[in-house]
Amino acid sequence: MMQRTLVLVKPDGVYRALIGKVISQIEDTGLRVIAMKMVWADRKIAAVHYADDPEWYKATGAKTLQNYKDRGVKTNKTAEQLARGVREMLIKFISSGPVVAMVVEGESAISVTRKLVGATEPRKAEPYTIRGRYCSDSYEAANELQRPILNIVHASEDTKTADREIELWFKKTEIFDYKRADEKFV
Ligand SMILES: Nc1ncnc2c1ncn2[C@@H]1O[C@H](COP(=O)(O)OP(=O)(O)OP(=O)(O)O)[C@@H](O)[C@H]1O
Ligand SMILES: [Mg+2]
Repeated sequence: MMQRTLVLVKPDGVYRALIGKVISQIEDTGLRVIAMKMVWADRKIAAVHYADDPEWYKATGAKTLQNYKDRGVKTNKTAEQLARGVREMLIKFISSGPVVAMVVEGESAISVTRKLVGATEPRKAEPYTIRGRYCSDSYEAANELQRPILNIVHASEDTKTADREIELWFKKTEIFDYKRADEKFV
C-alpha cells in the first residue's frame, strides 16, 4: 500500500551532523522524500506533536516504571505521572534546537521507515538500523539523567499518526508529487 510518513531528524541528530546519513539511508530503501525543511519548533508545535494521549501514557509509563524497578530505584510516582514527565522532557527537547522534517512516500513507507529507524532504545536497536548504528542511549541513562532518550530520528508509527503529523509540520503546498527514476526496480 502506498503510504506517507513523517520523519524528523531530532536536535541530537542535527547537532551530530547526521542529517545526510539519515536522508541517504531513507533514499537507499527506495522510498522518496517528497517534502523537507529545517525547523526550530516552538512549544506549541512540540506539544501537538507529542500529543496528550492516554494510550501513550499507559505504554510509556509502564516501560519507565519497569526501568525504575530494574535499576532498584524507588519512586512514589505513578506510571502516568512518570509518562507525563517524559512527555514534558520530549516537548522541551524537540524545541531546544533545529530539526529536519521530511515527508517520505512509497510502498509501505510507514513500516519500512520504522524498520530502518529501529527500536526506541538505541542500546537494544538492531545493528543496521539508524538508532542501532549511530547511537547507544538507554532508558537507564535517560531516566537517571532526567532527559529523553536520544535516538536521532522520529518516524510516525501508523497511518492515523502519520496523517496528523504531516499536517502539523507541512502545508499542502510544501509537499511535492514526483516519481524516482528507479521506481520500477525498488
Ligand atoms: N521512558 C522514557 N524515558 C525517556 N525518554 C523516552 C522514554 N520513552 C520514550 N522516550 C523518548 O520519547 C520518544 C517517543 O516515544 P515513543 O514511545 O513514541 O517511541 P518511538 O515511537 O520509538 O519514537 P518516535 O516517536 O520518536 O519515533 C522516543 O523516541 C524517546 O526519545
Ligand atoms: Mg512514537
